Amino acid sequence: VFDSSDDAARELAAEVAELIRSRAAEGRNAVLGLATGNTPLPFYRELIRLHQEEGLSFGNVITFNLDEYLGLERDHPESYWTFMHRNLFDHLDIAPDNVNLPSGTVADSEVAAHCAAYEDAIREAGGLDFQLLGIGRTGHIGFNEPGSEKNSITRRVHLDPVTRADAAPAFGGLDNVPTYAITMGCATILSAKRIALLAWGDKKASIVKAAIEGPITDQISASFLQEHGNTTYFLDRGAASLLA
Ligand code: F6R
Repeated sequence: VFDSSDDAARELAAEVAELIRSRAAEGRNAVLGLATGNTPLPFYRELIRLHQEEGLSFGNVITFNLDEYLGLERDHPESYWTFMHRNLFDHLDIAPDNVNLPSGTVADSEVAAHCAAYEDAIREAGGLDFQLLGIGRTGHIGFNEPGSEKNSITRRVHLDPVTRADAAPAFGGLDNVPTYAITMGCATILSAKRIALLAWGDKKASIVKAAIEGPITDQISASFLQEHGNTTYFLDRGAASLLA
């Protein structure tokens, strides 16, 4: 629990920088699973600062994002492709070929093959060394809404009404929010060697408490993290305020 999100982001960015540098020293890649939304922004700002001011290179980094809205072109202002480039990739020396997000425009008939290929690409990269997570008000990690099974893998999902309502302001109204997305599954996420879940503010306090202290249930996919041996929650005081 940190005094501020910036303090938490600095601590986590130092850890990830150490992973990237130690892999580079061995001549190996670091494979990072990344998230979108408001939560990761201070972390991404700190990674950019480490690159620009302290010479941290992302030349050996391969990334896989958790999810993407279905029905959005890459250059849609609210696509996760746009979000990630605007807030992180455009400011780093990462190779464009090393950036992976699910496609938002894959045809219905191609979704299953596309999702299987995403899983294969993660495996072929050597698996996720690190996975960054936020948490939604439904308890989702990625877009694993209530009912997502622990053994789920990358697939198309129907977004929960709560999740769509939370996205509505950014889309200029609920009617513009996509109904479906492609997300890594719970099993994909849990396969990561190291997981960090970030949450800021009072509004996340009750779901953070349920995920950490409540029963393990497919109604709160973040609760599956209780069984992952190397997960850390990075919280500010607001998000931690209801913890026992
Ligand atoms: C984002 C994602 C989601 C968000 C969650 C929290 O790629 O998969 O699980 O992490 O909805 O969103 P924010 O950070 O906007 O509160």
